Amino acid sequence: MGDTAPVSSPPRVLPRNDPRQYDELADEWWRPDGAFAMLHWLAEARAALVPPASRPGALLVDLGCGAGLLAPHLTGKGYRHVGVDLTRSALGQATAHGVTVVNGDAIAVPLADGCADVVAAGELLEHVPDWRRAVGEACRLLRPGGLLVLDTLNDTVVSRLVAVHIGERLPTVPRGIHDPRLFVDARELVAECARRGVSLRVRGVRPGLRGMLGWLVRRARGVGPSGRAPRIVPTWSTAVLYQGRGRRQG
Ligand SMILES: C[S@@+](CC[C@H](N)C(=O)[O-])C[C@H]1O[C@@H](n2cnc3c(N)ncnc32)[C@H](O)[C@@H]1O
Repeated sequence: MGDTAPVSSPPRVLPRNDPRQYDELADEWWRPDGAFAMLHWLAEARAALVPPASRPGALLVDLGCGAGLLAPHLTGKGYRHVGVDLTRSALGQATAHGVTVVNGDAIAVPLADGCADVVAAGELLEHVPDWRRAVGEACRLLRPGGLLVLDTLNDTVVSRLVAVHIGERLPTVPRGIHDPRLFVDARELVAECARRGVSLRVRGVRPGLRGMLGWLVRRARGVGPSGRAPRIVPTWSTAVLYQGRGRRQG
């Protein structure tokens, strides 16, 4: 049998954090129980940090917007939602969810200084080889008094353990999507924002344990995403996942 068995090509293994992974996972973005499920929970928590727009026509720039998972959580807040991302296959889906998209790099955003009332950078910085440049762009885009909201993974041993070695074995995080060498030290991020005129405050967050366990059990049983999605809740430590929120000085 050995000589005649069909040769199946092994799945292509891309390097960690290779953006082509988002093309391969393009069908997963909007599946509530899919590989990007946790991004939905995080998007809801991020949107909760964004107040209603303070003026007509206010602009929210969503750096690394992916397929626009933030969009449904901004409904009714009064922003024009512009998303910037490298991945065209994701941007097509973002457009379908009402986001005005720009195919571009978060380290060189083709938008004007001070154009944004809010800049969101959800689960982006830990994917950018030079996160400081992306932060520089986020701060540059903010108008004086504008708001930066973000979430990312801390550059700690426990973060590498939880987000990569454990997380990527669970169905909530795609394998190989993170390169832990790019994780973002929370104190350095706060300092970088301060240098750029944004006073960022950070807090640790995590999925609520009961909701997450229930979700994993339902998923393992093939019940599907019935019931409420797990909530992202504050936690005492920023050592793994954390949110940041801060305003640009006026
Ligand atoms: C983990 S996903 C997060 C997507 C979205 N913010 C969300 O929370 O649903 C990371 C996204 O960042 C994008 N990305 C990675 N590096 C980027 C860069 N340098 N410039 C713009 N987008 C980038 C990827 O294409 C992907 O859509």
